[in-house]
Amino acid sequence: MRLSDPRILSALPELGVERIAGASLAERTSLHIGGSTDLLLIRRHSSLPELIALLRGAGIPYKFLGGGTNLLVRDGELPWVVLQLSHQEEEVRLEGNSAYVDAAADLGRTVTFCAKHDLGGMEGLIGVPGTVGGALRMNAGAYGTQIGSYVREVEIYRAADARIETLRQKEISFEYRHTSFAPDDIMLAVKLELPSKPYREILEGIRVCNEKRRSSQPLNQKSAGCIFKNPPGGSAGRMIDELRLKGFSVGDARVSDRHANFFVNAGQASCADMLALIAEVRRRVHATYGIELENEVILWTQ
Ligand code: EPU
Repeated sequence: MRLSDPRILSALPELGVERIAGASLAERTSLHIGGSTDLLLIRRHSSLPELIALLRGAGIPYKFLGGGTNLLVRDGELPWVVLQLSHQEEEVRLEGNSAYVDAAADLGRTVTFCAKHDLGGMEGLIGVPGTVGGALRMNAGAYGTQIGSYVREVEIYRAADARIETLRQKEISFEYRHTSFAPDDIMLAVKLELPSKPYREILEGIRVCNEKRRSSQPLNQKSAGCIFKNPPGGSAGRMIDELRLKGFSVGDARVSDRHANFFVNAGQASCADMLALIAEVRRRVHATYGIELENEVILWTQ
């Protein structure tokens, strides 16, 4: 979607918003799939309510992009504009055991930054790609760590109230790959409370997790991480593997040879290829195990 309303175009600079016309989502997602649209890069987070009011007033649909690492986007000209927070100069501010982190900050960099200041706990999250905001929304987790365990406060744009609010830990529920945030809430910043730990101990934890991840996941291929959530008490990857579906493909969308719950773009996969692969694998798992796998990957495919 291309913005053409002169009222909106002229308001953007005052709001600290940069418009990238015809931005390719294939270039901004880890699956390297997706069409193009105008992308609005928000430099001043506080202007978000005004920007959204402007878009809503003009009837312009929008979606909010984090790091694009857990996302499958449709091809062609996209029927909505995309909003994204730009990186802030100071992404993390430490105060004792508290870390105040901007939502656009890279999760891995944040873990490392805190580690260097002897703040640990998040070692397991080191290889999880994406932004802190994206990790919060999904309650990202790996190797026994979930980001939600360390959250004390979250600053969000609450779509229902059309304003920026700060939620306390007890007002948010963090479950396995699920949170109580509304789908259109936008994460802006978080306060984490992290345990003190010597840097070299944290580094050792990071090294172990990196090793495990490297040996079991296709890190150098284009993917969105795990496609399906694990069903209660089970493992989507193991079931897909047991069905001998590693290497199974639709066009260039392919079940990874390394980890069966990672689907990779092995070349020029289209969104339709990836959706067909997801549907077929889900069908086969259901036929054999009677389990309906739920997507972990977020779909912008309508
Ligand atoms: N397994 C297989 N074949 C495979 C893949 C896995 O037999 O192709 C078996 C493994 O041998 C193991 C079990 O399945 O016994 C579980 O595998 P793994 O330890 O790789 O963990 P996972 O449950 O598949 C989860 C998260 C990952 C996270 C890892 C490490 C989900 C959906 N996935 O994977 O998160 O990195 O644990 O903690 O919860 C993601 O969220 O995108 C993601 C990759």
